[in-house]
Amino acid sequence: RVLRWTWRLTYLSAIAGIAYIGYGVYQDRHPEPQVEPDPSKKTLVILGTGWGSVSLLKRLDTENYNVIVISPRNYFLFTPLLPSCTNGTIEHRSIMEPIRTILRQKKARVKFYEAEASSIDPERKVVRLIDTSEIRGDITETEVPYDMLVVGVGAENATFGIPGVREHSCFLKEIGDAQKIRKRIMDCVETAAFKDQSPQEIDRLLHMVVVGGGPTGVEFAGELQDFFEEDIKKLVPDISDRFKVTLIEALPSVLPMFSKQLIEYTESTFKEEKINIHTKTTVKKVTDKTVEAEVTRPDGTKETVVFPYGLLVWATGNAVRPVVKDLMSRIPAQANSRRGLAVNEYLVVQGTRDIWAVGDCAVAGYAPTAQVASQEGTFLARLFNNMAKTEAIETKIRELSSSLNLQPGNSAAVSREIEQYERQLRRMKDVKPFKYSHQGSLAYIGSEKAVADVTWFNGNVAAAGSLTFLFWRSAYLSMCFSTRNRLLVINDWLKAKVFGRDLSRE
Ligand code: FAD
Ligand code: NAI
Repeated sequence: RVLRWTWRLTYLSAIAGIAYIGYGVYQDRHPEPQVEPDPSKKTLVILGTGWGSVSLLKRLDTENYNVIVISPRNYFLFTPLLPSCTNGTIEHRSIMEPIRTILRQKKARVKFYEAEASSIDPERKVVRLIDTSEIRGDITETEVPYDMLVVGVGAENATFGIPGVREHSCFLKEIGDAQKIRKRIMDCVETAAFKDQSPQEIDRLLHMVVVGGGPTGVEFAGELQDFFEEDIKKLVPDISDRFKVTLIEALPSVLPMFSKQLIEYTESTFKEEKINIHTKTTVKKVTDKTVEAEVTRPDGTKETVVFPYGLLVWATGNAVRPVVKDLMSRIPAQANSRRGLAVNEYLVVQGTRDIWAVGDCAVAGYAPTAQVASQEGTFLARLFNNMAKTEAIETKIRELSSSLNLQPGNSAAVSREIEQYERQLRRMKDVKPFKYSHQGSLAYIGSEKAVADVTWFNGNVAAAGSLTFLFWRSAYLSMCFSTRNRLLVINDWLKAKVFGRDLSRE
């Protein structure tokens, strides 16, 4: 009987789950008609469609402002699963959500311009835009005025001015980067398998070098080794004993932000996976076929080592975007800031009144992660919703106060109403500053293993291995932007497991 009831309950919850998903999908496909923006309201311009800006948009009551979104990317990208796109475990469109779909769910219409902000003039309160669309054939420039501006343009790839990096390596930040890497892996494999290649050339082509042992480099190296072990080796057996992955890191260990035991676990797992780790090795120069690095030996001596490569992936962290650098140069209070726009505890750019910054382009004392960016975006949405309500109440109080002068006979009732509004206003103005709540760090390290440093009841729990991998998958699945993304990602995981990854080079 217990079994029968368990079965019935499972059956009912499955039906309820499907109905819930179905309702969500129906809602998304049949949104309510939108209100037109009110031109008398303040113009809020949001730059970027990444983690910071989209989490702001998601919770912002767009009826309160004329909202304009500007970004060269007309979609949101779920970056945590980007390394899985480099080998085809996940197809790139599964982790993209069109910004138009997101904006269509808002109550009041939001304008979107697919363009890059080239400069911001805080004096004139305008953003200068460049549209580089190929369809026109020329570059169009224009200006958009703002009353309030949110800068959420993220960061670009750091190269530290090392010669040859921009010309010869692949980055891993955008969808295009992942596609380029996927193509390049298969180009190396097919060229190495081509007739009459010299052994040295085969070794070079099949040497995949990753520079940077932060989470991007580590996750990519793990994904690459999986691709080789689970697919390439089976389908292209003639080159199978020559494929090599090398990870180069300047510091003494990889994943410096994780606890010591997880660093050791990652390094020993990489050893088992036959990924070569070269720590205390700093890349100084890149050519089209080699990487030159300086290795610090245990006795402190330095030596230059040359690594020939077929694929080079550069993952050495973030650098400030030109539009942000330009804005910083226009604000005297930003003179000492190096890593981005210094903001106060309400995320207001220091030295300005009407500019806020979120995510990787803001320096608020936290690591440049999606977790921080999305919490900052949510905080700004609350702040802006609150500011709009506060202004509405202040207007109401002003109106009531003037009616008090005009109709003195009704003064007691009106005074009581004013008092009520003033109490509400005091509560609303009492907005607490932004405080980041760290949920933990997760990273995939290959062979269906992951490492996790998770915050649990105010303490830290470190976990690693196959169960942590399942936790990693379920955590990222639940964080995907939409039901559509979740279903597509599940489908991709199943497809890769059942049929293997797709080796075609398009
Ligand atoms: P982004 O998400 O980078 O968005 C910036 C937006 O601004 C983009 O839409 C861009 O097109 C737009 N833009 C750029 N220039 C301009 C311009 N001039 N004008 C207007 N718009 C512009 N963090 C985690 O917490 N967990 C993870 O697992 C994780 N995994 C990651 C994996 C990879 C491969 C990478 C690269 C990063 C990962 N991160 C992770 C870090 C995380 O992605 C970033 O911290 C996060 O994207 C920062 O959000 P953001 O909104 O500041 O910038
Ligand atoms: P990172 O800044 O975390 O790591 C870059 C690494 O490159 C550093 O360890 C640095 O020592 C090394 N490096 C720099 N120059 C070098 C050189 N010339 N030669 C050799 N090594 C060199 O950068 P990453 O991994 O791109 O991450 C950027 C941000 O995104 C971080 O805040 C990170 O936490 C976040 N992120 C988080 C992920 C997760 O939580 N799973 C996944 C990916 C990124």
